[in-house]
Amino acid sequence: MKVLGINGSPRGKGNTALALGEMQKEFARHGIEMEIVHIGNKAIRGCLACGACSRNRNEKCIIDDDPVNDIVGRMKAADAIVLGSPVHYANIAGTMKSFCDRAFYVAGANYGIFAGKPGAAVVAVRRSGGSNAWSALNYYFTIANMPVAASTYWSIVHGTAAGEATEDAEGLQTVRNAARGIVSLLTGAPAEFEFGARTSFIR
Ligand SMILES: Cc1cc2nc3c(=O)[nH]c(=O)nc-3n(C[C@H](O)[C@H](O)[C@H](O)COP(=O)(O)O)c2cc1C
Repeated sequence: MKVLGINGSPRGKGNTALALGEMQKEFARHGIEMEIVHIGNKAIRGCLACGACSRNRNEKCIIDDDPVNDIVGRMKAADAIVLGSPVHYANIAGTMKSFCDRAFYVAGANYGIFAGKPGAAVVAVRRSGGSNAWSALNYYFTIANMPVAASTYWSIVHGTAAGEATEDAEGLQTVRNAARGIVSLLTGAPAEFEFGARTSFIR
């Protein structure tokens, strides 16, 4: 089994990457490989609303000069998908929005090529807007007939400078538990979640 994680941050080694890496380690504990692809630093334009994906039904976006079509193929091949984004102005990062709009429009135009694959969202945020961005990512799964993995809280890590999210013990626990939620959906075994970490932010 293989999980594909998508890092929608412009920073390849930022807090979104840290959260995805935490999930990768958790999947490895369960014998599941997770590949992480970094799209947040790529030039990915938004959907043209041209309808070519519905007319052509070839599982491709007509814009073929960026990584979207390659990654759509990898998402189709994966057993589960994790979408990761930093919070930019209380929502997901712009490049990630452009990527998801096109990838999921192609999936819908081709009779739901991601249907049935478990999905989980993770976001990185300094202070506020995390749950809105987390919800924004989950809209993609829930329109694509993808079961959303449970966790013990919304899978959000807090930090500003790259790497700072290592201090967010509870946030990291939520992302490890989201990975466990995916494992449960993939294997059919009940999820065994971790509990106990509590992190607040005042300094
Ligand atoms: C353009 C931009 C907008 C941001 N907007 C918000 C925001 O609305 N709320 C917030 O708490 N942090 C905001 N941040 C901070 C990031 O969410 C935070 O630094 C996060 O850890 C970045 O994740 P990354 O390291 O994966 O890029 C913003 C950062 C940038 C660059």
